[in-house]
Amino acid sequence: MAATLALLIIQAQGITRHYDFNVQMANMTRLCRTKSIATVNGQFPGPEIIANEGDSVHVRVTNNIAHNMTIHWHGIRQLRSGWADGPAYITQCPIQTGQTYVYKFTITGQRGTLWWHAHISWIRSTVYGAIVILPKLGVPYPFPAPHKEVPIIFGEWWAADTDDVINQALKVGGAPNISDAYTINGLPGPLYNCSAKDTFKLTVMPGKTYLLRLVNAALNAELFFSVANHTLTVVEVDAVYVKPFTVETLVISPGQTANVLLAAKPVDPSAIFYMSATPYSVVRPPAYFDNTTVSGILEYQNPGSPPSASTFHKDLPLFKPTLPLFNDTDFVTSFTTRLHSLATLQYPADVPRSVDRRFFFTIGLGTLPCPKKTTCQGLHGAKYAAAVNNVSLVLPSKALLSSHYTGKSRGVYESDFPAIPVSPFNYTGTPPNNTNLATGTRLLVLPYNTSVELVMQDTSVIGIESHPMHLHGYNFFVVGQGFGNYNPTNDPTKFNLVDPVKRNTVSVPAGGWAAIRFLADNPGVWFMHCHFEVHSTWGLRMAWLVLDGSKPNEKLLPPPSDMPNC
Ligand code: C2O
Repeated sequence: MAATLALLIIQAQGITRHYDFNVQMANMTRLCRTKSIATVNGQFPGPEIIANEGDSVHVRVTNNIAHNMTIHWHGIRQLRSGWADGPAYITQCPIQTGQTYVYKFTITGQRGTLWWHAHISWIRSTVYGAIVILPKLGVPYPFPAPHKEVPIIFGEWWAADTDDVINQALKVGGAPNISDAYTINGLPGPLYNCSAKDTFKLTVMPGKTYLLRLVNAALNAELFFSVANHTLTVVEVDAVYVKPFTVETLVISPGQTANVLLAAKPVDPSAIFYMSATPYSVVRPPAYFDNTTVSGILEYQNPGSPPSASTFHKDLPLFKPTLPLFNDTDFVTSFTTRLHSLATLQYPADVPRSVDRRFFFTIGLGTLPCPKKTTCQGLHGAKYAAAVNNVSLVLPSKALLSSHYTGKSRGVYESDFPAIPVSPFNYTGTPPNNTNLATGTRLLVLPYNTSVELVMQDTSVIGIESHPMHLHGYNFFVVGQGFGNYNPTNDPTKFNLVDPVKRNTVSVPAGGWAAIRFLADNPGVWFMHCHFEVHSTWGLRMAWLVLDGSKPNEKLLPPPSDMPNC
């Protein structure tokens, strides 16, 4: 009895999970070329973090590479613990070479799959891994328990060093080189040169159901994913349960995660199946993005037969999935509009009904003047840039969060981020002549518990494109989306305030808009940016400053003593 009681208490409070992350270089051979990459503990992808909802996680990160480092726990809400969020110069100074920082946070009210990644320059191309959040002990999934759970992390592989790629692009103001391959769990698979031996393989037993924990860790690509001759039932996205629905193909944007159930065929089909991912991209001609396909293999093993029987049989028939065309926006729209919160008594959708503050942000590309005495490769000889409400965010040299906390914001940031575009225009019409953006480090300040509605509007200034917008520190409800210019009179009447999907990254449709709502109940400085790394680097990023509330439990906690210095 006493033991049961003790267990119940542990269960309610959660335990602390400890991890050691040693950031180190490691040699990795892909596509027959060996490259030295940044890794965690020499692993690629990096180690998986596993916790139950309610647990605390302590990750001791030691930086043993010759580059500054930070790690972000993508999608973890970080309630009052913004110091552990990770984006460089937003919530912390980087961990310098030879230094250690312990990220400490508690997982509250989330269950499903999230992920972690480096959050400085383009190092996240190789420094990433899955975060598996299991329900509290004794709490079942709201769907049939799977036989096995398998992380499937999509990545993007460059033969060159990714920091060289982006630095070169920034120097000439043009677009960065595209990647050489996509990967599943670090492996490009059989459709690339010299890569067949680096193929991810999933062996299943007939009649069993598998939970695939999908993560899109690619830098610059939204991906279609499909398993030949099998269906996928989506049960959760961004660590929030959804109403289950079944598809042959899904789409997942950088930053997004999804749990899907894969039902193996009832009897061994004596065949092998490709599971493949290929990019979705509009407007840009295929030469401007990596238009290739990564495949893994799904094979069957009969219960009782030895594991050796599961090796890749060349003589078995091979089935390949049919993926949508690279620019199939209709497919993307029909998929995303099927996403709805589970919205049950146990997992309610607490959509903010009333709104305290409304914001309208334009998001998209533009240009900045080419530095004197250089020639730039961007439009009209300018250099490419990107912005939110025309402000291309410049990262400060000190962390925003500590500048705010210590009251020393002067010279670091301004608190005047525009709530609406300064000069409205036809956002999705003929591109304007003036593509020039402004630069700045301006925060948008919100009092504690402000109920926010934000419409993000893609622009056609350089060309329409979808933008996977990620907000740190929060989940938000996607209450509406559409194409063309947002109409503030008609569009809100169609908002879903009953069971909208709740997530941390929404892909704003190309040449369209998305409306989100959230309650600003987490004090701190919260980064919001396009999860296309190239757009974020170009300045498609901003930050919210959510102030403390009046009660003690409504305040940002003090910084840990081992916070790195700039
Ligand atoms: Cu996954 Cu600020 O990013």
